[in-house]
Amino acid sequence: MTATDFLDRRDQELTFGAATWGWRGRVRRWSGGLLKPAMGVRERAYEADRAAIQKDFDGPRTIAFVNPKGGAAKTTGVLAAGYTFGTVRGGGVIGWDNNETRGTLGIRGARSTHRNTTRELLDDLGRFKDVYQSRIGDLGAFVRSQGDAHFDVLASDERPDVTGVIHAKDFSEVHALLERFYRILLIDTGNNLRAENWLAAADAADLLVVTSTVREDTGYSGLWMLDALQDAGHENLKYKTITVLSDPSPKVDEALARDLVQVYEQRTRGVYRVPYDPVLVSGSVVPYAELSQETRRSWLRACAAMAAAL
Ligand SMILES: Nc1ncnc2c1ncn2[C@@H]1O[C@H](COP(=O)(O)OP(=O)(O)OP(=O)(O)O)[C@@H](O)[C@H]1O
Ligand SMILES: [Mg+2]
Repeated sequence: MTATDFLDRRDQELTFGAATWGWRGRVRRWSGGLLKPAMGVRERAYEADRAAIQKDFDGPRTIAFVNPKGGAAKTTGVLAAGYTFGTVRGGGVIGWDNNETRGTLGIRGARSTHRNTTRELLDDLGRFKDVYQSRIGDLGAFVRSQGDAHFDVLASDERPDVTGVIHAKDFSEVHALLERFYRILLIDTGNNLRAENWLAAADAADLLVVTSTVREDTGYSGLWMLDALQDAGHENLKYKTITVLSDPSPKVDEALARDLVQVYEQRTRGVYRVPYDPVLVSGSVVPYAELSQETRRSWLRACAAMAAAL
């Protein structure tokens, strides 16, 4: 690593999510603008990714994280993307757990003073019917602020005795409400491709993110799901899908990783790898501030690709 690379990297560590001054910026300021060091390749790529994520859309955008296999890093992906979009864009982002059964987005995200979920929101949708009277602040009774990560989480039903299902109409009503108050909607999904709310999310999504770990079973599940969506009539699937491939352990099967990258590159717009991160292993509340530099940089790249595809 050259000295310049080292300084670039240190600056990125210090400035993720905030205004980037960097050592070049400091030299510019200290010299009163007389010295203007050029940006290095890494810094240019980093700034380009941030700019892609910060772009203006002409309406709200919905991204669904999908793979019918459990443990495919869908929930982790929604939280990492929520953190990335939230901090780089400065808010306007929600992660919504659209699991048909009890999902884990609520317990992996930062807690709130309330325990309300999609179910309570559905029960109380009437209070948001009047578009002139209902306010984003009223949603605070249902969503959970992720603090410095600058996004909100709407959890799935957390009652142990849950018997009801989320119908397609329920999905559409909550989706329409969230579209009124957020610019980017990240939807976590469950494992049943036949569930009404799963199908409704796939239909409503502007972009699908197939998440997978570097494991044969998880990788094949994602491919099988893409086949099923294609058979169900989803058109241009390749152009509305990107892949995020997570390392499930510190040491991965590189031959399998290469195969998965190759096959998903044929089926989706692009494949983005994210590393194993020890702070994610416990499956408890994601400590956003402790994510490794490599994890943050990888998700920045992946989210830039998502934004570019929207
Ligand atoms: N990059 C990573 N490094 C280390 N651990 C990870 C990483 N990504 C995910 N994990 C861990 O893998 C486990 C499964 O991930 P996750 O819950 O996100 O999968 P999921 O697809 O949402 O599963 P389900 O369908 O059961 O909800 C979690 O404990 C999570 O913390
Ligand atoms: Mg999950």
